[in-house]
Amino acid sequence: MKVIKLILAESSLELVPRDIVGHPAVLRTAQRRGKRPTEMLLDVSLHYHAMKKLRNRHKRGRPDIVHVTLLELLSSPLNLEGRLRIYVHTVNDYVIIVDPKTRIPRNYNRFVGLIEQLLTVGKVPPDSEKPLMEAVAMNFTALLKHLGKEEVILLSEKGELVGTDEVCQKALEEDLPIVIGGFPHGDFSEEVLASAKYTYSIYPKPLDTWVVASRITAACEKLLKILL
Ligand SMILES: C[S@@+](CC[C@H](N)C(=O)[O-])C[C@H]1O[C@@H](n2cnc3c(N)ncnc32)[C@H](O)[C@@H]1O
Repeated sequence: MKVIKLILAESSLELVPRDIVGHPAVLRTAQRRGKRPTEMLLDVSLHYHAMKKLRNRHKRGRPDIVHVTLLELLSSPLNLEGRLRIYVHTVNDYVIIVDPKTRIPRNYNRFVGLIEQLLTVGKVPPDSEKPLMEAVAMNFTALLKHLGKEEVILLSEKGELVGTDEVCQKALEEDLPIVIGGFPHGDFSEEVLASAKYTYSIYPKPLDTWVVASRITAACEKLLKILL
């Protein structure tokens, strides 16, 4: 049975980096939440001033992007029919492997708590032999190797304009992972760009990650006759 492999690349999801753990904005949230700074997610709406010196900061501190996109993907008929595999590669080179049966919290604060546990302990539930989500240190190239792939279909507003059905057709025909950026602004890194066999755009303007994910899954559902 053919499945669609979807990679959210360079996703804006990480624990607070060590360089800014002493910043007052970080210490304030840590104290309020009764947590160590290094066990909290970086969030631009809370840590804006602390993030000023971070490299690539325009791509960081937006865990809500992965939250909304995972809600969309995991509840899709494509996933319910077992035809979707989701990999969340993060901007600081972790990969979260998501079991298709995972039900992530609908509430954002509960999602943050779950991901903080995942990135601190490495899996959720923490003592499970078959975890629903597992986080491993892995860069994008290593993820492709793990999947037995060398090339991908990259989705970018700068790509060749095609229909969403064509994207799914190519992914199924050539068994290529589809890559969507999990970051709010800017472009893919050279490492990700170098893996693109095809670079496709589905609309002439930039769209949010979850909109692209939803249009692609909808097209795949049609193609696979999951939805009429
Ligand atoms: C919010 S965008 C990334 C930031 C965007 N480059 C910008 O500067 O506004 C998130 C991701 O959605 C995908 N995407 C956005 N617009 C797209 C489009 N028109 N066609 C195909 N993919 C798109 C790309 O994978 C992109 O990395």
